[in-house]
Amino acid sequence: MTKNTLKTRNVNCEVHGGYESDLLEQFDGTSIWTGCPKCAFDDRCSDDPEVRAAAKSRLESQAINEALMDSGIPPRFRPATLANYRTDFSPDQPAVLARCQVYADDFVTNWNQGRSMLLLGTMGTGKTHLGCAIIQQVLRNEAMAGAIARYITASEVIMRVKETFDRKDIGESQVYAQLHQPDLLVIDEVGAQHGSDFERQVLFEVINGRYSALLPTILISNLNLAEIRRFIGDRVIDRLCDAGGEVVLFRWPSVRGDV
Ligand SMILES: Nc1ncnc2c1ncn2[C@@H]1O[C@H](COP(=O)(O)OP(=O)(O)OP(=O)(O)O)[C@@H](O)[C@H]1O
Ligand SMILES: [Mg+2]
Ligand SMILES: [Zn+2]
Repeated sequence: MTKNTLKTRNVNCEVHGGYESDLLEQFDGTSIWTGCPKCAFDDRCSDDPEVRAAAKSRLESQAINEALMDSGIPPRFRPATLANYRTDFSPDQPAVLARCQVYADDFVTNWNQGRSMLLLGTMGTGKTHLGCAIIQQVLRNEAMAGAIARYITASEVIMRVKETFDRKDIGESQVYAQLHQPDLLVIDEVGAQHGSDFERQVLFEVINGRYSALLPTILISNLNLAEIRRFIGDRVIDRLCDAGGEVVLFRWPSVRGDV
């Protein structure tokens, strides 16, 4: 049973007898009952290459689904992909999409070099859509190789750290350790909060820890480059732009309600 299990039932396999079948929630909103684990094992060891390949592909889909379900991509943005990002609202959109596509396609290189990215721009231009789409593509390509990619908002980062203040079982450092772990972390809505010294310090800890470990971070904000430098500090922005980290600007009217 995994944490994506919706229901469990007892089923009888004609070959192997009774087993517990789980109804697993899928990232695309559907759900699938798991089959007999012994049949799955037999299929993976089958002499027939087609049966073996199908069993392997089922196992891969399951692993990718689990990684996607763990990614923190909000349900609203599960359908958001690079493929369904439209580029007919503004002449700047094709280049923005291309840079996000290249970042996701070349993720292994970006990961090796610790190359981050900033997505900055006005409301409703699809920054969260593309941030989530990048996570989704990275996991579809690399989850089998063990890649972990996560989405979180800046306010959730702050909240998670604050929550540890009145707890004995988990400390601040564990929250930072969790945020330093993913191979890719997308931090959305930076600058939407008021920007106290404490909040700046928390975001610095997260980004600097990842920078030191050469792990890429994608930062998303409504602020422009000058404003985000003021908000979060030059030191953070310089780290994100290190190793060729790009600043991608979304400068066109909101498409909310038009898509
Ligand atoms: N070019 C696009 N093609 C398809 N859908 C889009 C496009 N741009 C935005 N959308 C959709 O419009 C909605 C708003 O986009 P999104 O939330 O990503 O904008 P945002 O830039 O993150 O806005 P905010 O700064 O307010 O958070 C989403 O449902 C998103 O999927
Ligand atoms: Mg957004
Ligand atoms: Zn069986």
